[in-house]
Amino acid sequence: GSGKFFVGGNWKCNGTTESIGKLVSDLNNTKLETDVDVVVAPPFVYIDQVKNSLTDRIDISAQNSWIGKGGAFTGEISVEQLKDIGCKWVVLGHSERRHVIGEDDQFIGKKAAYALSEGLGVIACIGELLKEREEGVEQLKDIGCKWVVLGHSERRHVIGEDDQFIGKKAAYALSEGLGVIACIGELLKEREEGKTFEVCFKQMKAFADAVPSWDNVVVAYEPVWAIGTGKVATPQQAQEVHVAVRDWLRKNVSEEVASKTRIIYGGSVNGGNCAELAKQEDIDGFLVGGASLKGPEFATIVNSVT
Ligand code: G3H
Repeated sequence: GSGKFFVGGNWKCNGTTESIGKLVSDLNNTKLETDVDVVVAPPFVYIDQVKNSLTDRIDISAQNSWIGKGGAFTGEISVEQLKDIGCKWVVLGHSERRHVIGEDDQFIGKKAAYALSEGLGVIACIGELLKEREEGVEQLKDIGCKWVVLGHSERRHVIGEDDQFIGKKAAYALSEGLGVIACIGELLKEREEGKTFEVCFKQMKAFADAVPSWDNVVVAYEPVWAIGTGKVATPQQAQEVHVAVRDWLRKNVSEEVASKTRIIYGGSVNGGNCAELAKQEDIDGFLVGGASLKGPEFATIVNSVT
């Protein structure tokens, strides 16, 4: 063999606060051979719990990390954050991420390079197809989440999730009682080609085809060119799409759903532009990125309610 024996436990998308507490206590009470590196990889949301309760004899790994420095990448976890909470390792290239999530070799390679450059060890997985489900809704509920953002442009265009995949996620999250913030929005190129409505309607259709009820869904219209760019849509541009989406709901779902569903706007909303946007008839709220990191400014946005 080469080097020390290494045993990693990839918990995948399994466990609850309770079952993980039990697993940790079992591990703490087990005698482990000294000459073996032992690493466990809990789901992200339990890493902190495990770090605070597991014996130092066992190192902690994440199951995934973002490709570079953290920032405006909805749903991702950065290497810096992993290190911050005490992770020493990250599993990359796992077949479930390759074949269920659709990560490709180059993307995984870049992630590995970044994780290594930041001092994390990399458990680099290769191998044949193995289909497993990545759900985790139960875990989100277990730790008290009430909502999940799905279909965000960073997941569509950076991670490569497609309309149907997002629709299935939405249906599952709803079936488990989570609320869904269903994101839609066009790329700049699509707007310039006059395809804004077409793109948004297609994304809406995938949600509509998948979800049995809209009771617990909020639609977030986020033009991709406005996200994190400081280029907010004008109140008129946003209103125009919101009306069109509401109209789409009216024609394709029901009058009731169209009138009850909240359609919120996202994309460079800040304390200075929220009031004008909030005045628009069909803007029922906001999904805020950058400005939500500043408490007083976020409060200003919250209070812009009309
Ligand atoms: O989810 C939030 C949106 O993507 C908006 O982000 O406010 O930083 O442009 P932003």
